[in-house]
Order: sequence, then structure tokens, then C-alpha cells
Amino acid sequence: MALYSEKVMDHFTNPRNVGKLDDADGIGEVGNAKCGDIMKIYLKIENDIIVDVKFNTFGCGSAIASSSMATELIKGKPLSEALELTNKAVAEALDGLPAHKMHCSVLAEEAIRSAIKDYYDRNNIAYDKAKFPDPHEEE
Ligand code: FES
Repeated sequence: MALYSEKVMDHFTNPRNVGKLDDADGIGEVGNAKCGDIMKIYLKIENDIIVDVKFNTFGCGSAIASSSMATELIKGKPLSEALELTNKAVAEALDGLPAHKMHCSVLAEEAIRSAIKDYYDRNNIAYDKAKFPDPHEEE
């Protein structure tokens, strides 16, 4: 059996929403301390809706496929829904990731949360800090 699903290969070889947004309302950057991979997500937000999203991922194929799928899943969605997106949902949408690659999808979840937090901080919007744990303290 192939190690990676067709969807993973598709999003890895033809990733959606790659790039950056110069006028982003929120930017999130996270890294995986163990492998050194980095993911950056840019959000354009209007009336609490993510109207555009782009990403740059300097990382493995699973991280690139995860960021591509995650951006597709949150585009056009309200922030409240984007905040609910888990790495498991991203992996499921990709028809699964090998167990030892699940941590790569965590980067996508964290990068989105970090970008939304940045948006809240920039606009002095109150939020529940407990919902935005510092990823580096979770290890
Ligand atoms: Fe680093 Fe996949 S091995 S994110």
C-alpha cells in the first residue's frame, strides 16, 4: 500500500493558496522544534470571515499538503469555525497521514490559531487566552 494517499500527493505536488498576502490582517508563524520545519499563514479577514488565506511552508511534504488542505478548509469560513479546525480534521480531509507524520499536520492547526491570535492582538479584540496556548510550552 502506498504510504501517502492520493490527496496528500495531490496537495503536495499542487499545493493550493501558496504565497503571502501583503495586506494580511493576521499572520501566524510556527515551527516544529524537532524537525526544524516552519509554516507561515496569512489571513485576510472581513467581518469575522476569512476572505483570503495564503501560506508558506518550509517543510516536509506532509506539512505542505497539510497547510494546503487547511487553507482550503478555512477559506470563506468564520473565525469561530477556523478556530475549531483540528490537525486530525486536516489529516482526515487528506485521507490520512502515516502515524509518524501526524505531527506535521499539527503545524497547520497551530499556524492558523497563531494568525487569528495576531489578528485579535492587532485589533485589541478580547479573547480567551486559554484557547491560545503558547505552542512552545506544550511540549
Ligand atoms: Fe517536519 Fe513534517 S517532518 S513538519
